[in-house]
Amino acid sequence: TASDDELQERIAAAKAELADRVVLLGHFYQRDEVVRHADYVGDSFQLARAATAHPDAEAIVFCGVHFMAETADILSGDGQAVILPHLGAGCSMADMADVDSVTDCWAQLEDLYGTEPDEQGRQPVLPVTYMNSSAALKAFVGARGGIVCTSSNAAQVLEWAFERGQRVLFFPDQHLGRNTAKAMGIGLEQMPVWDPRQPLGGSTAEQLQDAKVILWHGFCSVHRRFTVAQIEKARAEHPDVQVIVHPECPMEVVDAADASGSTDAIVKAIQAAPAGSTFAVGTEINLVQRLAAQHPEHTIFCLDPVICPCSTMYRIHPGYLAWVLEELVASRVVNRIEVPSAVQAHSRTALERMLAVVP
Ligand code: 13P
Ligand code: SF4
Repeated sequence: TASDDELQERIAAAKAELADRVVLLGHFYQRDEVVRHADYVGDSFQLARAATAHPDAEAIVFCGVHFMAETADILSGDGQAVILPHLGAGCSMADMADVDSVTDCWAQLEDLYGTEPDEQGRQPVLPVTYMNSSAALKAFVGARGGIVCTSSNAAQVLEWAFERGQRVLFFPDQHLGRNTAKAMGIGLEQMPVWDPRQPLGGSTAEQLQDAKVILWHGFCSVHRRFTVAQIEKARAEHPDVQVIVHPECPMEVVDAADASGSTDAIVKAIQAAPAGSTFAVGTEINLVQRLAAQHPEHTIFCLDPVICPCSTMYRIHPGYLAWVLEELVASRVVNRIEVPSAVQAHSRTALERMLAVVP
């Protein structure tokens, strides 16, 4: 097998040869040996926008997970190939909302609430999907007046949704949905969780009549691990610590933290802090360790003492990156992510609604 140094040299050589023919996008959770080759590093919203910004490149190599590559394919130009270096790089949260279960939920909600808009023209339920979802689900949403959000714009997107819907069906991440709706003043009793294995998702018809946000039951297994006890320990050991967490963390954790935000918001908060600051960060370990290395003037550590990588992000090994780039040099496209044309139009509509709310 190739040594680490050799792989780094192969990636650099292939990229240099390809020059403007390829754009390499990297999510903040990617390992350093991949991130250092990226033309853009960002959160999922920034990378979606970056995918639209290079219409002349032949290919976009997406170092991230499957739903991000699908989004890049939907938003990028027709002839452009989007490549995911490892096809097994999925997202377990995105997998928790399959279109069949969501379609079944939707039918039950239509039975309950009807399909007629109210006197303000708001439909009974407006579907909102987190970016972390399949293209098929984005198309489902787009075809029903709905919209996509990311962790950086969920509040603005929910405001938009409530102008058009009496209530919102939010998927797949119950935590992002709950944290965002709570910050808007919506009570917990108005946010039932929909469990697709139970009739009416496990709520009564009365509870659903009062609902403002129906939360799909999904979660991120990386962010679910963070606890209030970890925050208390960090505060006990570092009295001046600032705790900053991703909004995929459970509500009690977000409430106990000093701040919460998307990966880019976490990066910016740390960049803006005066030297000598201390941060306990509740998000994926590759980003936390990189921030700690980039900011020796601060003390930065992960809230969870047990290493917590996103195992699917981690599948993008430099060996796969070298391979897809060298294939491109040889004019071969491997690991292409192509969203079927039947799904393209409506999923693009849902994404473009988001881009219109938050350009
Ligand atoms: P961001 O949009 O904040 O980058 O989050 C994506 C993600 O998958 C977090 O787990
Ligand atoms: Fe999905 Fe969680 Fe990994 Fe983000 S960190 S890609 S939500 S599994």
